[in-house]
Amino acid sequence: MEYKGKSIKILAIETSCDETAASVVTATINDQRFRVIDLEILSNVVASQIDLHQKFGGVYPELASRAHAESIIPVIEEALENTKKTRLQIHAFDESSKSGMTKLSEAMKEIDAIAVTFGPGLVGSLVVGLAAAKTLAYVFDKPIIPINHWEGHIYSNYIREKSKKEKIPEFPSLVLTVSGGHTNIVLMKDHGKYELVGQTMDDAAGEAFDKVARLLQLGYPGGPVISAEAKKFKKKDLKKEVKLPRPMLNSGDLNFSFSGLKTAVLYKVREMGELSDDIRAELAYEFQEAITDALIGKMEKAVGKYKPKSICLAGGVSANTVLREKFIALKEKIDYHPEIYIPKIELTTDNAAMIGIAGVYRFAAGDSTSWDEINVNSSAKI
Ligand code: KG4
Ligand code: ZN
Repeated sequence: MEYKGKSIKILAIETSCDETAASVVTATINDQRFRVIDLEILSNVVASQIDLHQKFGGVYPELASRAHAESIIPVIEEALENTKKTRLQIHAFDESSKSGMTKLSEAMKEIDAIAVTFGPGLVGSLVVGLAAAKTLAYVFDKPIIPINHWEGHIYSNYIREKSKKEKIPEFPSLVLTVSGGHTNIVLMKDHGKYELVGQTMDDAAGEAFDKVARLLQLGYPGGPVISAEAKKFKKKDLKKEVKLPRPMLNSGDLNFSFSGLKTAVLYKVREMGELSDDIRAELAYEFQEAITDALIGKMEKAVGKYKPKSICLAGGVSANTVLREKFIALKEKIDYHPEIYIPKIELTTDNAAMIGIAGVYRFAAGDSTSWDEINVNSSAKI
């Protein structure tokens, strides 16, 4: 393989939902088993559309794709420009007399391949990132690495600080992926080899956070606002009066269901009539406890069944502090103490660095293609 032993740079693009994101990552592809070493994120730019969607209490697809179209070029430029420890910016962006195209082509000379999310996600959002990636690949004659969004989230666990001698997950690895669009338990047998062993039967966990936040009139996105509200309850140390179900915990399989939990909150809200501040905080607290108990309970069962060497958490909901704490605490609950991995906070919600990390591993395995070979797949599975 021509890149073996060499340091490579990958430009990554992610636009599957409501974040326009681009990143540059670098790594060295080492030996015959395609080991990736010295992986480093050089830039990680995310343009969030939260303000745009806030008034709708959720992502409004038509507005999302328009906003991606507006932001995609500036975001890619910034990712190329603001790379640490590279010469990209010196060559490309310090001489204002050069045209945008000249600067871009100089920056692109340093890029070996373009990784891009092809699905799953919103079609109108995905096409914007994919069209940008295809155009750059065509014009600058670069290979393209198609990345599944879930795989990107999983690979947010595959970056470690060299100085701290941190490890990466060993296989088989069991991954709990929790975001606004999906909630799965995935058994990862090797790089790129996945078996879906559990999934939600209805709402995704992040979707449940978003819907319950709307019921409690807390705004959008639901995860962070519920989390903040729940802290108020904890601080006040009130007597706990609300008890919500821990859905599907004893269903005998590894699947989830969160729509019943959301309906239970709805009934409580109706029963209360006017929501007092204390009850709102208590509902937020109890909802967060119930959903994280359900997620962790199932993960514990899955670990008992598959006995993985490592367990990983991934996806936007992995930003949740309570979930992170309960996930880490799993180590002591499981008799053989598997290695536990949770992503760095900046890699939890949608970003392009995770797409770049997955891209490096895919590239190392020879999984790149030509710009005319890929298309969006809004319901892609891994
Ligand atoms: O992975 P992500 O950024 O986008 C999708 O792929 O869907 O996940 C977004 C989801 C949203 O539903 C959001 O409410 C949730 O992640 N989220 C959180 C937190 N931060 C974001 N959920 C719980 N706690 C958080 N701190
Ligand atoms: Zn995501």
